[in-house]
Amino acid sequence: MSVENNNEWNPKIIVIACNWCTYAAADLAGLNHYEYPADIRIIRVPCSGRMDPLFMLRAFNRGADGVLLSGCHPGDCHYGTGNYYNRRRQMMMKRLMQFVGLEPERYQTSWISGAEGSKFAETMHKLVEDVTALGPNRKLRDER
Ligand code: FES
Repeated sequence: MSVENNNEWNPKIIVIACNWCTYAAADLAGLNHYEYPADIRIIRVPCSGRMDPLFMLRAFNRGADGVLLSGCHPGDCHYGTGNYYNRRRQMMMKRLMQFVGLEPERYQTSWISGAEGSKFAETMHKLVEDVTALGPNRKLRDER
């Protein structure tokens, strides 16, 4: 959680982005000067199939208020099937969220190709809006 001087709360959101599509879309959004909220921190992974449920839990434990996993559209994965593994994990991740007492909406996924800079910006706006509506993550955060 980040708190500014005026005590206005801003969410801390981790975006795990596949190198070949969503990370390229973030670059494109920057090149085209599409504005998106500064509340997101992008972590680049080779493929969305690289996502491990522990990444998500660790992010929440370390203070994230929301996590987005984003990769290539189904059928466009650079490695063939990585995003299919990701897609199969989504249901399990939502159930895991409920099991540990977190709102499932704090974990989201999207498919954004390297040519979709505007979609990247729109997705980030919606993500920040959704997580802001949920408020700070207090359940899994390590307060030490
Ligand atoms: Fe992008 Fe696999 S390389 S999802």
